[in-house]
Amino acid sequence: EQTAIGIAHSKLILIGEHAVVHGQPAIAIPFPLVGVESIVEHEPGPVVIDSTFYHGPLDLAPESLQGIASCISGTLEYLEMPEADLLIRIKSSVPPGKGLGSSASVAISVIRSLFAYASIDHTDEELLKLANIAETFAHGAPSGIDTLTITSELPVWYEKDNPTEFIELNDDFHFVVADSGSIGDTRMAVESVAHLLRVAPRKIQRKLDRIGELTHQAKDALEKRGKHLLGQMLNEAQKELEALGVSTTGLNKLIEFAREEGALGAKLTGGGNGGCIIALAQNEVHSRLLAEKLRKFGAHAVWPFVLKRHHKK
Ligand code: MEV
Repeated sequence: EQTAIGIAHSKLILIGEHAVVHGQPAIAIPFPLVGVESIVEHEPGPVVIDSTFYHGPLDLAPESLQGIASCISGTLEYLEMPEADLLIRIKSSVPPGKGLGSSASVAISVIRSLFAYASIDHTDEELLKLANIAETFAHGAPSGIDTLTITSELPVWYEKDNPTEFIELNDDFHFVVADSGSIGDTRMAVESVAHLLRVAPRKIQRKLDRIGELTHQAKDALEKRGKHLLGQMLNEAQKELEALGVSTTGLNKLIEFAREEGALGAKLTGGGNGGCIIALAQNEVHSRLLAEKLRKFGAHAVWPFVLKRHHKK
């Protein structure tokens, strides 16, 4: 019997989250340490999803899986395949609600597996369009940055409705991602910022613009000016995110601790309201030490990782 596999890594927003929803640029990086594998098999009967959260027919998927369920239906329709005789197994190591793009990773891996099952090639454009069906459920008004980064092997410079650029690093950058342990609802966080923007447009717009400026500087730091400037930009961006109300006490504690332990900069990453922080370490040895310290301090999970300098192909 035919079996097909689709995989996807996850993502991190380095800087620019939330502002990107309102037209500012953001920088995001593929995060290969956690990811999703989706396996499609022939099984007579209705389409069945098998995941950690749910095992059962696509039609009866719970509210929390509505996004991926409609993405599957949309993809099958696009492929002109009947909605039947498939078992879709989703295995994810991306913790949901942590700002790592779990919803987009699941969507991308599932779409890839369905195209592979149908033996049809797809363009990146098709992949993104179908994945954004799921993202609209997960984020309400997604910027599209998560799906884009999850299909990229390189750090991306993203501005809604503009062609995506890839960032060329001038050095290796060492980071630590640490999980605060609580779950953040990206959709709610995005809506709360939109709400603030309606009630205090000028004040909030200034903060979004400021995040945009910091993001431009961060790009400069990655491409030319180096990690010390990047660290400062991360710290400045965190101030704005706090003012937008999307940070939490748990995140703030991890961020302060990381800075006390020598991080060059630290901020929340992704939607916030819980989830993870990203801290810029001084070098590789420091990233391992910092990860260990953050874990002892109470982070639920830690991932030291390096963003490697690459050369344009
Ligand atoms: C989520 O990773 C990033 C946000 O800016 C939402 C989005 O861009 O869709 C918070």
